[in-house]
Amino acid sequence: MQFALTHLRSAAVVLGLALLGCSAASANGDVAAGKTVSQTCAACHGADGNSAMPTFPSIAGQSASYLAEQLHAFRDGKRVNAIMGPQAKNLTDAQIADVAAYYAAQTRTVKAPATTDSIPGAHLWKFGGHGNAIAACAACHGPQGEGNQPAGFPALRGLTPQYVIESLMAYRNDQRKTEHASIMVSIASKLTDDDMKDVAQHIATFH
Ligand code: HEC
Ligand code: HEC
Repeated sequence: MQFALTHLRSAAVVLGLALLGCSAASANGDVAAGKTVSQTCAACHGADGNSAMPTFPSIAGQSASYLAEQLHAFRDGKRVNAIMGPQAKNLTDAQIADVAAYYAAQTRTVKAPATTDSIPGAHLWKFGGHGNAIAACAACHGPQGEGNQPAGFPALRGLTPQYVIESLMAYRNDQRKTEHASIMVSIASKLTDDDMKDVAQHIATFH
């Protein structure tokens, strides 16, 4: 433990120096280097991070810190997925920082927002549910699912119902073990299957 802490501190010092020397980089990643790394990701997530396939999430415009945290989790086996896990396996810390910076710098586009809403889904989103047991999703993820970058709450606009339902189930089954997953584990464990479908339908209407 002591060793790990010392290690972390020296990493922080190195990072601090790197930032001083390289103020053009976004956060701690390099967008241009990240573009090169992203070539292996494009087939599934789209060249600019806007995915054309419902089971592959769009990652464009997501905060670099969220993207990096998820990539570390895939690489280290804390977020398990048979397709994505192997993709992250050989990424170095620097490649993760760079590719996260690249996708964070892209613009998220929602090609075809759903035209049918779910009334219970919209209610859950705006006001929460089950008495006061479930907080309003909008409080953290924003009225239109735009997310809250400084707070580290991911954007959800542009995510398909398939992916949203799959993610909520994964939290409920405690299969996403990132540093910040506990918030969603406690929320998702109170959602019924119908709640998940309803709220996913509402998310699909965001522009
Ligand atoms: C063969 C298809 C495929 C490739 C190639 C691929 N991914 Fe993924 N990616 C997926 C799938 C499927 C998921 C959803 C996993 C899940 O449900 O947990 C995912 C999820 C992610 C997530 C989490 C998104 C979120 O909203 O939480 C990130 C970040 C990500 N991928 C980044 C990358 C990067 C960076 C690369 C290239 C180094 C890459 N992916 C290559 C299929 C792929
Ligand atoms: C208190 C703040 C908070 C509230 C309220 C909240 N979330 Fe989240 N949500 C988060 C955080 C933080 C994460 C990222 C957790 C992680 O690292 O896996 C997240 C992640 C997610 C994800 C995964 C996104 C992705 O790209 O994979 C989905 C889907 C989601 N939330 C849906 C919801 C829904 C639906 C509700 C309402 C029922 C809700 N959230 C309420 C904070 C919140």
